[in-house]
Amino acid sequence: MKEKHTLLYYIKRYKRRYIMGAIVLLVVDILNLYIPQFTGEITDGLQSHSMGMEGVMQGIGKILLVGALLAIGRFLWRFFIFGSARRIECEIRNDLFAHLETLSMRYFNENKTGELMSYFTNDLNAVRMSIGPAVITTFDATILTILVLGKMITHVNLKLTLMAIVPLFFIAGGGIWYGKQAEKRFREKQQAFSDLTDQVQESISGVRVIKAFIQERKEMRAFAKANKNNKDKNMRVVKLQATVMPLLDVVIGFSSLITLFYGGYLTMIGEISLGRFIAFNQYINMLVWPMIAVGDSITFFSQGRASYKRIRKVFLEKAEIIDESEEGQLGKSLADQLKISEIDADNTMQASALHGQITFNHLSFSYHNQNRNAIEDLSLTIEKGSTLAILGRTGSGKTTLANLLLRMYDAEQGMIQIDGIDIRKIPLDKLRKSIAYVPQDNFLFSDTLGNNIAFGSESKDKEKMEEAAKEACIHDNIMDFPFQYGTIVGERGVTLSGGQKQRSSIARALMKEAPILILDDSLSAVDTDTEEQILSNLKKHQKDKTIIIIAHRISTIQNADRILVLEEGKKAEYGTHETLMNENGIYANLYHKQQLEKQLVAQQ
Ligand SMILES: Nc1ncnc2c1ncn2[C@@H]1O[C@H](COP(=O)(O)OP(=O)(O)O)[C@@H](O)[C@H]1O
Ligand SMILES: [Mg+2]
Repeated sequence: MKEKHTLLYYIKRYKRRYIMGAIVLLVVDILNLYIPQFTGEITDGLQSHSMGMEGVMQGIGKILLVGALLAIGRFLWRFFIFGSARRIECEIRNDLFAHLETLSMRYFNENKTGELMSYFTNDLNAVRMSIGPAVITTFDATILTILVLGKMITHVNLKLTLMAIVPLFFIAGGGIWYGKQAEKRFREKQQAFSDLTDQVQESISGVRVIKAFIQERKEMRAFAKANKNNKDKNMRVVKLQATVMPLLDVVIGFSSLITLFYGGYLTMIGEISLGRFIAFNQYINMLVWPMIAVGDSITFFSQGRASYKRIRKVFLEKAEIIDESEEGQLGKSLADQLKISEIDADNTMQASALHGQITFNHLSFSYHNQNRNAIEDLSLTIEKGSTLAILGRTGSGKTTLANLLLRMYDAEQGMIQIDGIDIRKIPLDKLRKSIAYVPQDNFLFSDTLGNNIAFGSESKDKEKMEEAAKEACIHDNIMDFPFQYGTIVGERGVTLSGGQKQRSSIARALMKEAPILILDDSLSAVDTDTEEQILSNLKKHQKDKTIIIIAHRISTIQNADRILVLEEGKKAEYGTHETLMNENGIYANLYHKQQLEKQLVAQQ
């Protein structure tokens, strides 16, 4: 488990392809060496007049043949190694996404969307470069260097070779320093890009607020700042490269000078032939590329390392909400249960639904990093098939209750039970399947209305869909849209009003046909007549369901079987409409206030 999600783990899976690529590369490099040799042979043959036109043609023929083999070889190693890198990139991206999907709400509260997005784009790109091109380059450069040196020694002259490569040792030393610098600067560069992505993401999703509060200039300034930071950090990387690369040329230049000088001398005194002298010059030139390649490889590896460290941080993040049930796999996170490759095959995680009796047993809960309890010592039971209405100021813990029931966050063992079973012992998928939830910030995907409504349901049955939509009083609206249930909502389609969104979300929950239904402030943007209609529909069609309605309007609440008034996470009042009216407390007070408002409105 520990080894999983290290870069090596992925590379090992493609071992065979990498080895094949390496072999082809080796062959290519060996073939490569024959070209200077053939050129040298032609030169020597011409010089000693021992070679005619026929011999020259033969030499050229050999060069052409090697050239053709080289072309094939170069295709093959690209196919093996670049192909593996692409495949690994794709696998990591899948795994990363699957892993993110399992992480708990806390993680998403604490990490910015833009940053998470940049892992998938920028960082994974850098990782791919380090396991594809950089691997090739390093391997190729090493092999080529060894082979070329071998050729220089055996085919030309040992002393000349030793003299010529002295300057190259400087490169090895400099490379280590350069790698460290590059990694540091690259990490800063990736972070700057993350921040920039985040800036764009926030500005776009918050565009309505920005415009309404005329904060465009401020946003532009913030963007320009993030953009400049991104540019600066990129410049730091470029500057480093720009300084180091010409130094490489200088070093290689020295090698060439030594070759001309000492090689020329050796040719003059007849120790080596002119042809070999020419071949040697070509060999030295063949070393230019490996030297530059070493620089590039170090850059790529450092960048890949920096990026993979960022990605690995996500992998090391554990899902906090895990399945502890025996029915579900004990102690396994959803990630392990839902291997991405198995998702298509196994769509039938059928679990018999719960009945829906909910018990809170001295429930106390506080969010991470929060010193105040969001819920404090709450005990009550919601009978199966009954309706509980929850009333309370903002921040009193209403949404938190819904979050806890769904296990978006975990309460302590034994504090919440459904059907008498601790919810931590109920398989997660079964639990969530049994609860139809209309969140307060009802979110619709940029998809058709039909797909949005059927989102949580296994069947896409048109009749059921319409039934749910009718119950949620959205059907008539939908029929007025240009493509009815096929109408796309969101960024690429129609914009729904707040009330329409709420009712679409309700339809989505109703279509799920779960034994427990939670409406979190889901009728606030709906007019009172429609609200009444929806409530009466619920009463009629959902009477065996356990329903939790969170609301502010007495009209929404008063007919519930039980009413809970929350104050700062505590149970302030609890009872039926009648008993609470008799208590003459918060509920009764609110009732009178809202009655008065109604009368005022009626009088106008
Ligand atoms: N994700 C969160 N992290 C930390 N604190 C939170 C989080 N969500 C809500 N809270 C805090 O918990 C308290 C209860 O919030 P919430 O349940 O959303 O209230 P309500 O739905 O009644 O308006 C508030 O003080 C709120 O600031
Ligand atoms: Mg809320």
